[in-house]
Amino acid sequence: MRSHYCGELNESLIGQRVTLCGWAHSRRDHGGVIFIDLRDRAGVAQTVFDPERKPAFTTAESVRMEFVLRIQGTVRARPTGTENPHLRTGKVEVVADDIEVLNRADALPFQLDEAELSEPVRLKYRYLDLRRDSMQKNIRLRHKVTRTLRRYLEDRDFTEIETPMLTKSTPEGARDYLVPSRTHPGHFFALPQSPQLFKQLLMVAGFERYFQITRCFRDEDLRADRQPEFTQLDIETSFLDEDGIMGLMEEMLRTLFKDTLDAELPKPFARMSYDEAVRRFGTDRPDLRVPLELVDVGDLMKQVEFKVFAGPANNPNGRVAALRVPKGGELPRSQIDGYTAFVALYGAKGLAYIKVNDVAKGRDGLQSPILKFLPDDVIAGIMTRTGAQTGDLIFFGADNAKIVNDALGALRMKLGDDLGLKQPGWKILWIVDFPMFDYDADAKRWVALHHPFTSPKTEDLERVDLDPANVKARAYDVVLNGSEIGGGSIRIHRADVQEKVFAALGIGPEEARAKFGFLLDALRYGAPPHGGIAFGLDRLCALMSGVDSIRDVIAFPKTQKASCLMTDAPSVVDETQLRELHIKLRKPPEKTPGETVS
Ligand code: AMO
Ligand code: AMP
Repeated sequence: MRSHYCGELNESLIGQRVTLCGWAHSRRDHGGVIFIDLRDRAGVAQTVFDPERKPAFTTAESVRMEFVLRIQGTVRARPTGTENPHLRTGKVEVVADDIEVLNRADALPFQLDEAELSEPVRLKYRYLDLRRDSMQKNIRLRHKVTRTLRRYLEDRDFTEIETPMLTKSTPEGARDYLVPSRTHPGHFFALPQSPQLFKQLLMVAGFERYFQITRCFRDEDLRADRQPEFTQLDIETSFLDEDGIMGLMEEMLRTLFKDTLDAELPKPFARMSYDEAVRRFGTDRPDLRVPLELVDVGDLMKQVEFKVFAGPANNPNGRVAALRVPKGGELPRSQIDGYTAFVALYGAKGLAYIKVNDVAKGRDGLQSPILKFLPDDVIAGIMTRTGAQTGDLIFFGADNAKIVNDALGALRMKLGDDLGLKQPGWKILWIVDFPMFDYDADAKRWVALHHPFTSPKTEDLERVDLDPANVKARAYDVVLNGSEIGGGSIRIHRADVQEKVFAALGIGPEEARAKFGFLLDALRYGAPPHGGIAFGLDRLCALMSGVDSIRDVIAFPKTQKASCLMTDAPSVVDETQLRELHIKLRKPPEKTPGETVS
């Protein structure tokens, strides 16, 4: 139907006749002449209709926004002074002699170039939202990303293998999406939270290098970087240790960034232990673009009169930390009050601070409500340890360690944004030496920090049952600009070790057999040492596209409440379907509530 793409017209085609297909991006009447900007997948071309040439001109007059058109004409240079330097095709235009309306379009619910579109409207009319230039770019970049990743892995002998969607629960820490079985009354499949167990079984099966770009399903609280269904680049290998896998993955990411964004990632990536990350940044996914750091001052505070500090300083689960803000002394009181309210969201009961007016004057050069509680040597200690300079502000957090880490970690990022401290570029690093277990105070039991198939460090194997708090895992996460884009580990490949870890997690032999019998069996039939990783493809693409939400790199995403505004899923089903599935509802379904997206 077409001879050229609109977006590809240029001066080399001047004088040639072309046939274009696309959408009416805009139509302007200029003193009798009609201009239609025609848009297709490649871009926009200006077409011109002369009143002398009927019936083309008459048809052009009837064209409205987003009509689907086929236009024929001759390419010519735009008259001097009318070139558009912002447009790739801006030096030429097509003098049209024929136009065919392939389809009409109703008036759109929004203008494609509207700057402030509400997300519910965008999601309801996603097929129109996706016509917008920015969304076209994001989705195409995503394709380029998966293509590059696939090529890289194929070149290194990885086999792409599909694993089941209708399966049994794999614990990755979220709630399962369940699918009722018609043929087995009262039984349910779970949609995979990840292909974790299947990829390990593929290693037992001898494939050695597996990958898959696959959907995962997790029914959890949603945020900007979480969707109920999301995509992983899932990888597993045999006979490689941590360094082998991390090396291969680093090279993959370097290739990806070079090929798609022409950006250089460091060689090698930095590595930081989990403990160091939490100590310095309050989180295991530190954003190293912000040059602020938490500094421990608890040891200085053990004897001070100020109970708010002395309490946590003397508590093994407590933490007292300082956060120095260079030139923060200029912050007005109202802004400091704002930060106090901000850290309260993370459970902090206050936000003490010291203003450093003149570092040379010691105590007299400082200004703070808590100064009176602190002896000279403690003040001197704080100044040295934080490296405070004249003009700085030092914030303090004191509480149990989790609250201090969450509160000061978040404050660090907020200050980075507010004070423009965030450096440009890509900051990527591995977080390693994770604890194997995490204590769930509500459930009063140990849970796996990654998943129960992660191998404990060899030297900690003996400790698994006796001292779970101090067992480290052979796990690694990749953090890019403060976002956890991937995580993996060396797995347990011996049945006895797997049983021991299940036991430490409070999964008894019977439960282990019922839930994971197939894995325990497989590990007994010659399972090779193996390990792997999974990347969150949506998060990776969101970062690479420079957007804040992963919804902007997913063609048809769900809302924060896990529904699809376009198709109205989930929806009620009729009684016959429920009956076939042996399901009786406890309550009649609620009416679908109107939804907003934040
Ligand atoms: P993990 O649970 O860390 O590991 O998941 C891997 C990566 O997937 C991304 N991710 C998500 N992205 C969008 N929405 C979500 N709800 C969501 N949840 C996770 C993150 C994360 O780093 N089986 C293991 C991997 C392994 O050990 O090989 C796993 O699934 O970027
Ligand atoms: P107060 O003695 O309660 O008036 O607190 C004195 C200063 O300590 C105020 O600036 C409070 O914001 C701050 N503060 C109170 N509790 C904490 C805490 N848990 N961590 C850090 N600062 C705190």
